[in-house]
Amino acid sequence: MFHERENINRINKLSSSGKLIGYALFYNTYSTWGGCSVYLEDLYVTPEWRSKGVGTKLWATVAKVAVERNCCRMDWAVMEWNKLAINFYQKHGAYNVTIADNFHMFRLTKENLEQLALLSNSSI
Ligand SMILES: CC(C)(COP(=O)(O)OP(=O)(O)OC[C@H]1O[C@@H](n2cnc3c(N)ncnc32)[C@H](O)[C@@H]1OP(=O)(O)O)[C@@H](O)C(=O)NCCC(=O)NCCS
Repeated sequence: MFHERENINRINKLSSSGKLIGYALFYNTYSTWGGCSVYLEDLYVTPEWRSKGVGTKLWATVAKVAVERNCCRMDWAVMEWNKLAINFYQKHGAYNVTIADNFHMFRLTKENLEQLALLSNSSI
């Protein structure tokens, strides 16, 4: 099952009885050098359905959409403690950009975002 809302894409995996057992959430981003790319926001399989290939199928479907859209890469973040997920991703060729490229992600919280946005009104 595939849902699209604005730039947010969601693929749901249902059991044969129609119960939601997993989903992937992703959206398009853009690389200055490579063009279209995909950000994987969330990949989740309910505990009782794990290790049955559902996660691979969902992730592979996201990859298929990315290939169809001619994306140059897929990015996402994983917590360091989540070793099982890291193994899962690495099994399919993913690499850690923080270790390999010394690339660190940064974030503005909503409060900081609002503070920064105020500077857009200042005259320079
Ligand atoms: C990571 C996740 C999506 C993998 O889905 P899955 O359906 O279990 O994956 P598959 O069956 O296709 O592949 C199985 C592999 O996933 C890995 N895996 C990752 N997390 C796992 C978990 N919590 N339980 C079991 N296997 C897990 C194992 O390496 C497993 O390999 P194995 O079958 O040889 O033991 C799923 O475990 C999950 O939803 N985990 C919790 C949420 C999460 O951590 N998401 C990623 C956030 S970045």
